[in-house]
Amino acid sequence: MELKSKRKPVDVLLGCVVAVCFSAVCSAQRLCTVPPGPVTIPENNTADVQVVKIICGNDVSLTVTVNPEDLFYIVGTVLMLKKGLDYESLPSATLVAWVQCSRAGSRSVNESVEVLVGNVNDNPPNFAQNHYLLDVNELTPVNSSVGLIEATDVDSEPLYYRLEPATDKYFRLEHINTPKILVKSILDYDVVQKISLVLHVQDTLNGSATNEPFFTSVATITVHVKDVDNRPPWFQPCLRTNLGIAKLCVSSGYRGKVNLTEKEASV
Ligand SMILES: *[C@@H]1O[C@H](CO)[C@@H](O)[C@H](O)[C@H]1NC(C)=O
Ligand SMILES: *[C@@H]1O[C@H](CO)[C@@H](O)[C@H](O)[C@H]1NC(C)=O
Ligand SMILES: *[C@@H]1O[C@H](CO)[C@@H](O)[C@H](O)[C@H]1NC(C)=O
Repeated sequence: MELKSKRKPVDVLLGCVVAVCFSAVCSAQRLCTVPPGPVTIPENNTADVQVVKIICGNDVSLTVTVNPEDLFYIVGTVLMLKKGLDYESLPSATLVAWVQCSRAGSRSVNESVEVLVGNVNDNPPNFAQNHYLLDVNELTPVNSSVGLIEATDVDSEPLYYRLEPATDKYFRLEHINTPKILVKSILDYDVVQKISLVLHVQDTLNGSATNEPFFTSVATITVHVKDVDNRPPWFQPCLRTNLGIAKLCVSSGYRGKVNLTEKEASV
């Protein structure tokens, strides 16, 4: 109930706004006309580009009355952009400029021009660090994750990753779009203590082939293998052997002679 009664004044207000706008458009047509529809301008454009040519009657002068980010100016009857747009730094992807058309002896009217800023891939992906250190216990099970090293890119989603060397025996990526580093085969501290990898990221899968703009970035990774206690105590001398992940050393036992017949003379 309350919602309904609240809604009514809003409707009335909206009606008024529409009516006022409509009458403004009608009277504006006598002085000047902005071609309908929004104008799309890609970001990272050059300065001083034409946005729209306003159709004006004789002796009509134009001024920009609402100028978002101070980006617009008028040359003759053309609305122009002063500088290149940056999609990422603008507060909104839609800019609405208002132009006042006036002529001596007539009531001036205002026309709006809507500009949609087009996003362009003009930023590279970035890793938070150039170099990452990972400590990994030997014997970490195959397919367990030892780290997620993601890059960010204000333009592109998803990003495409590649781990080098691709032939690395011990690590692989979970997925081309998921830079989770997984164990590929069991690490043995006695065999390898340190592994160096390079993680590549690209913001367009096939940028060079499709002629699309693309950017790449790399981060280096050093994995330190940590020794864990994976062997029971050994009696030496013994013969080393591996049983699954456990290390064993098999002793042949001890030999000695005890003289059973020997008797100690004293107590
Ligand atoms: C335009 O793109 C280039 C790279 O293509 C970039 O370096 C520059 O920062 C971009 N400029 C703006 C205003 O976004
Ligand atoms: C590891 O993951 C791969 C791919 O999902 C699978 O083929 C393989 O069997 C897994 N290995 C183990 C030991 O879980
Ligand atoms: C064992 O006893 C015998 C006889 O008494 C003796 O000849 C021999 O040397 C002893 N052996 C040792 C290892 O003590």
